[in-house]
Amino acid sequence: MLFDHYTLGPLTLNNRVVMAPMTRSRSSQPGNVPNALMAEYYRQRSDAGLIITEGTPVSPQGRGYSMTPGIYSQDQIAGWRLVTDAVHAAGSKIFTQLWHVGRRSHSSISGHQPMAASAIKVPDQVYGPLPYGGFGMVETDPPKAMSKTDIDNTIADFVQAGKNAIAAGFDGVEIHGAHGYLFDNFMRQASNQRNDEYGGSMENRYRFLLETLSAVAKAIGSDKVGVRLSPHVHEGGTADAEMPQLTLQALRAMAPLNLAYVHFSENIADHDEVPDEFRRQARAIYPGTIMVAGKKTKAIAEDLLQQELVDLVAFGTPYVSNPDYATRLQNDWPITEFDADARLTLYGGDAKGYTDYQQHQL
Ligand SMILES: Cc1cc2nc3c(=O)[nH]c(=O)nc-3n(C[C@H](O)[C@H](O)[C@H](O)COP(=O)(O)O)c2cc1C
Repeated sequence: MLFDHYTLGPLTLNNRVVMAPMTRSRSSQPGNVPNALMAEYYRQRSDAGLIITEGTPVSPQGRGYSMTPGIYSQDQIAGWRLVTDAVHAAGSKIFTQLWHVGRRSHSSISGHQPMAASAIKVPDQVYGPLPYGGFGMVETDPPKAMSKTDIDNTIADFVQAGKNAIAAGFDGVEIHGAHGYLFDNFMRQASNQRNDEYGGSMENRYRFLLETLSAVAKAIGSDKVGVRLSPHVHEGGTADAEMPQLTLQALRAMAPLNLAYVHFSENIADHDEVPDEFRRQARAIYPGTIMVAGKKTKAIAEDLLQQELVDLVAFGTPYVSNPDYATRLQNDWPITEFDADARLTLYGGDAKGYTDYQQHQL
């Protein structure tokens, strides 16, 4: 099943293997512009039926990590065109992950005070300029609570980024609603203490995400919009016992939008195991395509597909050191382990540890 074609809206995917979004921080400076090196990296990984790019900030305000490529300037759109052309020429499809980090930022990176549902700081570090020169990990700044105008402006940024993505040749966009970033921050009780229509009830807490999905879908077509969620991953050191329930309720509300897919991120950082019951409920509630990622092996992937609990399976770390990962999986060829050296070259730098991993040699 994993290597069968899959119909994703207007697209035919060569297989059900997806390359998961992975920040690699190789954009050109100044201006955080995608480049030929990035095009080569994604081209090498085109044996995946679908590629989802690294998190791509929709605005300067949405940035949380230096060197991540954006999608809000003409240079960035032109840079991404190199990537989409390369992937399409190699026969695959590519979505870009639209990202606003919310409170996971520092004013030295975004040029603005970070924004969040409520003015509650997350104890975490982000990659940015160091006070004495160079780059490294810096503690996040305390965020400000978003006003209604901030929310409206941010939705407009996502809409513009969606249009820019289409102009850059992407097949669609994935709205990053996972991992404690902006939309996840609104959905969780500990980080959202608002008392307007974006806080309180579950419906209010996913309202911002739903409004953004609807607005982007209206602008570029619902079959070009996916969403990533991580209800079982902890945020800010704690689990939110309501997140699975909130997510199921949000799925019910998303169903009429006819989105391209819903993508669950599992098994990273502190997390709860995903009960099969949750998968069954999600499947029953949500009629569209479901994708899942997080420490999936070929056997787990095939099992989830056979049980019809998911339609697509995304792989992250294996794609770092195996550019031809889908082909290796299909043929049961050996996998190049993701080792300590690979870890050193994850973020920033040049071709080393990025485009110099070899295809399997017959
Ligand atoms: C280097 C690296 C960067 C990542 N960057 C992102 C990102 O930009 N957006 C995102 O949603 N997830 C990101 N992730 C999480 C992956 O998409 C994926 O969910 C995770 O690695 C678990 O899958 P795996 O066990 O197959 O690696 C990143 C993971 C890694 C290893």
